[in-house]
Amino acid sequence: MNNWSFFREAIRNFRSTGAIARASPLLIKRLIESVPSRVPLTVIELGPGDGCITSALLGRLHSESSLTAFEINPAFVQRLGCLADPRLRVLPVGAELLTDHFSPGSVDFVVSSLPLSMIPQVTKEEIIRQAQVVLRPEGHFLQYQYALQDYGLLKDSFDKVSVGFTLANLPPAFVYSCSLGLV
Ligand SMILES: C[S@@+](CC[C@H](N)C(=O)[O-])C[C@H]1O[C@@H](n2cnc3c(N)ncnc32)[C@H](O)[C@@H]1O
Repeated sequence: MNNWSFFREAIRNFRSTGAIARASPLLIKRLIESVPSRVPLTVIELGPGDGCITSALLGRLHSESSLTAFEINPAFVQRLGCLADPRLRVLPVGAELLTDHFSPGSVDFVVSSLPLSMIPQVTKEEIIRQAQVVLRPEGHFLQYQYALQDYGLLKDSFDKVSVGFTLANLPPAFVYSCSLGLV
């Protein structure tokens, strides 16, 4: 899928996609640069779309890591199936089902490009709550967003939240790194 195909899919499903362009390579770099590559990790991706962040994660992750992607758009799920990599599992279900698939404290990183501002408040609070449950005490929740609408929700949910910003995306984006601060 190229940028044009992503654009068409995004227009068809604007409420669930919440973007007209994929994340830029520089935004992806900022988002995942804190993910270690030398140790095996359990990583979840929420809202992978056509896989631009997924591919970058697979390029970075240790050979014994696992990456599980939660994606609700069937066209994107089909596209993700082309990323044949034994470390990748694609679940065609919503991010609000995280705890059905992972036990508490079992995940190192949750990397999300969910369009939080388009998701109903109750649903996004549930997604964040489940991310907290599945993360290890030293785990991290990484998210980008085009404005700071959900900074308050993330501040209330995690003990430590840092925010970065990159102009090198359409539109420019904020990058959150959140942790439970338990270690
Ligand atoms: C802004 S796009 C991100 C695409 C790509 N990861 C990127 O950053 O360019 C948001 C993605 O989240 C997916 N999505 C929206 N709500 C979701 C949910 N509740 N669970 C899983 N995926 C969801 C959409 O289908 C879409 O693929």
